[in-house]
Amino acid sequence: MNKIAIIGCGNMGLIYANSFLRYKIVTKENLLLVEKNEDRQNKLSAMNIGKVVTTDDHSISECNIVILAVKPQDFRELAGSLKKVISPACVVLSIMAGTEIFFIQASLNHRLIVRAMPNLPVEISMGMTAFSASDELSHDKIMLVENLLSTTGRTLYLKEENQLNAVTALSGSGPAYFFYFMKHLVDAGVKMGLDEHVSSILAKQTMLGSFHLINNGQKTLDEYIASVSSKGGTTEAALKTFNEHQMGDVIVKAIQNAENRAEELSIK
Ligand SMILES: NC(=O)c1ccc[n+]([C@@H]2O[C@H](COP(=O)([O-])OP(=O)(O)OC[C@H]3O[C@@H](n4cnc5c(N)ncnc54)[C@H](OP(=O)(O)O)[C@@H]3O)[C@@H](O)[C@H]2O)c1
Repeated sequence: MNKIAIIGCGNMGLIYANSFLRYKIVTKENLLLVEKNEDRQNKLSAMNIGKVVTTDDHSISECNIVILAVKPQDFRELAGSLKKVISPACVVLSIMAGTEIFFIQASLNHRLIVRAMPNLPVEISMGMTAFSASDELSHDKIMLVENLLSTTGRTLYLKEENQLNAVTALSGSGPAYFFYFMKHLVDAGVKMGLDEHVSSILAKQTMLGSFHLINNGQKTLDEYIASVSSKGGTTEAALKTFNEHQMGDVIVKAIQNAENRAEELSIK
């Protein structure tokens, strides 16, 4: 039976707590919610979804999984007390952005580390999480982590940790790119005289339908683009404007910039 400690029960920590409980990966008696913020501690206690404790609590040593869900800048201070209570067989799963496995290993004096990069739709179990593990993790332990992460959506195991910066740039930051595109679709509708709610329904359902089509259909993206673009028609007029402004290049460049920034922010 799993015993799990979630260190830092803010936005992400709480999402994981609720996801694990929903899929019965852990019972609330075996779920430790480790939180330093007093307001948050009181709120968590009132929720009655696990035992609320602090980082030096010795019951953390009974956990087979410890999740690091604090901000990266809070980790250094936390590591000092945490390393005294983690058992050697425990898997430490970090979702801290940009904090490398080697750094976590050295800070905690602990070998079994998984580093994951989730994205915002984990809130509704539709997330995309890619993860990488230290060499010492057995197949069974990787599967254990996979089972945990998949309570929040799809997962992808990456052998190479250094690909996580590209993951951060693509799927980690990705929701913002789609929100940005949607926002401008809605604005365009309003400019053409549609009510905002009408424009929003049109944009959202178009995004949803297009996603299901590319996910379930047989054609390539280029073939689907061609299916909507008849010669001399309306779609072609819009795509011509995108191409004149090198939209494709702009998108690729923007995501490469996000990857570069992820590299600059890395904690090694
Ligand atoms: N949000 C996202 O979409 C997303 C996506 C991918 C990865 N992440 C990563 O997820 C992590 C958590 O993000 P978040 O948005 O959930 O942050 P958050 O809401 O600020 O939650 C972190 C919580 O941890 C608490 N904390 C700090 N130090 C602690 C300690 N020593 N012991 C126990 N609790 C401690 C904080 O308390 P205080 O408020 O008092 O400091 C806060 O309540 C970050 O590392 C972030 O990079 C987030």
